[in-house]
Amino acid sequence: YNHVYGKGKWKEFDPKDLLLTYNALKVLEARYLLKNPETLRYIETPQMMFRRVASFLARGESKEVEEKFYEIMSELKFLPNTPTLMNSGTRLGILSACFVIPVRDSMTTPNGEGIYDALRAMAVVHQQGGGTGFDFSELRPKGDVVASTAGVASGPISFMRIFDVSTDVVKQGGKRRGANMGVMHVWHADIEDFIKAKTGQLKDVQLQNFNISVGVYDYFMKAVERGEVVPLINPRKTRIPGKDYDYYIVKARGYMDEEWIQEEILRELEERGGSVYLDESVIITVDEALVIAEKEGAIVKWVNAKELFNEIVKGAWDSGDPGLLFIDTINRRHPVWYLSKIQATNPCGEEPLLSWESCNLGSINLEKFVIEKDGKPTIDWEGLAETIRYAVRLLDNVIDANRYPLKQIEEATKRTRKVGLGVMGLARMLIKLGIPYDSVDAVYLSYQLAKFIYYHAFKTSIELAKEKGVFPAYDPRRYKDIWESALPFEQLLSTVDEGRVSPEVRKMTEIVDKLDFDQLKADRLKYGLRNATVVSVAPTGTISIIAGTSSSIEPLFALAFVRNVAVGKFIEIDPLFLQYLRKYELDDPEVVKKVAETGMIGDNPFMPKSMRKVFRTAHEVSPEFHLLHQAAWQQWNDSGTSKTINLRSEEPPQTVEKVYLLAWKLGIKGVTVYRDRSKSQQVIYFGIKK
Ligand code: CDP
Repeated sequence: YNHVYGKGKWKEFDPKDLLLTYNALKVLEARYLLKNPETLRYIETPQMMFRRVASFLARGESKEVEEKFYEIMSELKFLPNTPTLMNSGTRLGILSACFVIPVRDSMTTPNGEGIYDALRAMAVVHQQGGGTGFDFSELRPKGDVVASTAGVASGPISFMRIFDVSTDVVKQGGKRRGANMGVMHVWHADIEDFIKAKTGQLKDVQLQNFNISVGVYDYFMKAVERGEVVPLINPRKTRIPGKDYDYYIVKARGYMDEEWIQEEILRELEERGGSVYLDESVIITVDEALVIAEKEGAIVKWVNAKELFNEIVKGAWDSGDPGLLFIDTINRRHPVWYLSKIQATNPCGEEPLLSWESCNLGSINLEKFVIEKDGKPTIDWEGLAETIRYAVRLLDNVIDANRYPLKQIEEATKRTRKVGLGVMGLARMLIKLGIPYDSVDAVYLSYQLAKFIYYHAFKTSIELAKEKGVFPAYDPRRYKDIWESALPFEQLLSTVDEGRVSPEVRKMTEIVDKLDFDQLKADRLKYGLRNATVVSVAPTGTISIIAGTSSSIEPLFALAFVRNVAVGKFIEIDPLFLQYLRKYELDDPEVVKKVAETGMIGDNPFMPKSMRKVFRTAHEVSPEFHLLHQAAWQQWNDSGTSKTINLRSEEPPQTVEKVYLLAWKLGIKGVTVYRDRSKSQQVIYFGIKK
């Protein structure tokens, strides 16, 4: 296998392929490298794959740009999401990982937004390797009337089951499991069933191809804190569609061009503290909307918010589902808020999207930007900035190179041109810098890195606008600069009592403090912007294996573990950990075996203290530090930050409650927990023995 046959001749492996780990090669071989469909012989090497992607995405660009695209990928500094790697330059046209598809309360609709239209859209997206998210809250509840047949409605969860079965049948591009996000907003009459749809007896049984999340609002979270009651609504019965229930934008849309109404909304928003709803030309509050809903007979019942919340917490503790989406936070920080209201996200939560939008992702491998300076490890900020520039350019090109499976998706995507540049390898970067993941220094570094990446990604998008034009829905005046609402670092930290940032780390990141966001805004106003959003922190489940680094912004999961993926079982021992063992002359097979049994060093007294600190794994890191990292990245992120708050198996439900409340306060857009071994099947098992 050191020669492949391609383009009519045999080729040898490129030495650059030797940068790839064994696991990376296995994954590439099983799913990414192109084969001749008849002989099933490989027709490309990994380097040929990177070439294929670079040249496909550099059409119309200079040779130099193409070379740069190739270079950042082949050096594993940046990788685009799986569909781009798999499908660029092939017959399958989807290059994006994330889609949100609307579901209206009707079998089919003329504009293709009914339940079965959505099902079809999902199938074509999955077929080519994309993941889909849906908000099912517009569907009338179970037992409600169906006028056309004088029948009884099945309700959203029954319909979700059809989506689930279809996902099983249509494997993504035949290469990975289909992934879905199912959202229901907390006011929906069927919310109690939804919360239990994947827990208790239904755990490991129902909706196995869905992550589910409850869409919650500030009014709900406040009601939880105060122990108040909240109404459950039948969306079919109200003139104020439930989906717009406490929001002001959708209804206002028709009037948004009139200046007075914009001013009115802003004034009202300020006075009433956020949740305002606009009906016709009248602005009303949630409370007033309730009065209307009550008159219309749309309120099915009142429930205690705290009790409902406890059910959510119980479900998540038991099985990981449901997660929460903070709908107000999402929309408040959506830069193109004036287009519509966001109701759902893609499967892993990193992309809150409008109906029919898709987004393509790519991630920078932070580990590659640790360099030695004066004998000490530090960050190569310049190299990072350059990689960001080419990465954003590449991602922007994906939008035009994409072949969209549906007209609506193409239109919505090209209207905003959202791209999502994220990261992987944070944990390994921290280890190389000698900073423990669960330390104030590490959270500060996350915050500063996120700010730096956002600044340069945004700057690149301005440069691209200058060169290639702005995104069509760009409105310079209404576009919201999200840095104006980023929480300061100190505010994040005030939630835990954990000391201060060290002078060394302040010094290492001082370049970030000099970034001029006022100038950035002036440039945006002058030249415009190419992409409505520019960053997004994805899980990087497979591309981090290809890059041979830790996934996304997660801590190391374990120093040794068994990984179950579609192509087989892997036993992995972290190579960086091995390196350290060697440094301390501890690389004795017996020692390695001992560590491998539990996956962690824990309190092993024979390990040097510094090693015990920097090699703390996902279950040793406290939930607060998991959240703080997520919050740090979310502040400088115009879309979402995907993260799993990993909990030890013995954590009580109260921990989940604390995590969910804190997530809301830290300005996170969505939160998911996973308690070790709470499902019968999990992708990664902790340690070798268990
Ligand atoms: O590493 P890779 O590019 O394969 O993907 P990821 O970062 O783990 O996931 C990014 C997004 O890809 C997810 O949020 C989903 O939208 C989509 N995805 C999917 O559709 N099917 C999967 N089996 C995994 C991910």
